Amino acid sequence: MIQKLRETAVFFREFCGRFQTTGSIVPSSRFLAKRITRQLAERGPEPIRVLECGAGTGAFTGQIIEYLRPQDRFDLVEMNDSFVRTLERRFATEPRWQPAQGISQIHQLPLQEFQPAEPYDYIISGLPHINFPVQLVQEILDCYTRLLKPQGKMSYFEYMYIRPIRKMVTFGQERRRVHDVDAAMKAFLQQHRVTRDSILLNFPPAWVQHIR
Ligand SMILES: C[S@@+](CC[C@H](N)C(=O)[O-])C[C@H]1O[C@@H](n2cnc3c(N)ncnc32)[C@H](O)[C@@H]1O
Repeated sequence: MIQKLRETAVFFREFCGRFQTTGSIVPSSRFLAKRITRQLAERGPEPIRVLECGAGTGAFTGQIIEYLRPQDRFDLVEMNDSFVRTLERRFATEPRWQPAQGISQIHQLPLQEFQPAEPYDYIISGLPHINFPVQLVQEILDCYTRLLKPQGKMSYFEYMYIRPIRKMVTFGQERRRVHDVDAAMKAFLQQHRVTRDSILLNFPPAWVQHIR
């Protein structure tokens, strides 16, 4: 409980200081974590490579490691140094996380600069696309395509109706930006989406988009 409060406090502090990249007031709920890892939960017996983008304080990480085995490989990309320190501490000290420490590596850099040696079987992303300039969104969507194996699976989340709401309540250049990001995300989803899950038990309620 104290641990959870501590993570929420770190998250809230980062939200206040770095709203655009943090993208949320509090970490995602365990209900969202369970749904966003749904494709990973159905993995086969062969070793897999998993990438988590924007791990924050580890709301999804804790669920991802439940599905990992000793021959797998798990990379986490997180650009915020406070979150990286939290993740390092959790891998080092939490009994549920410690078994995955040997197969996991945290990379402190923006996803768009990440150059792994091989692509991934699963990508799970917590990046707040709606907050980014459209060029960056396009770069990140290209990264997902480049970093995923041809048969790979990816899941990301967005808050319900956030794109139409932001289009309604913004003006001028900001409205143009939101409109362009919305168009880029729609094009990506039209090309790739498999299913969408609704998660009401999250603040705010969210959709998980599952992609192939
Ligand atoms: C909405 S939070 C999600 C955190 C966590 N996955 C969760 O659901 O609670 C977005 C996270 O993405 C990280 N982030 C934002 N832009 C990024 C980028 N370009 N590359 C890597 N991480 C980024 C932020 O620092 C933050 O930790």
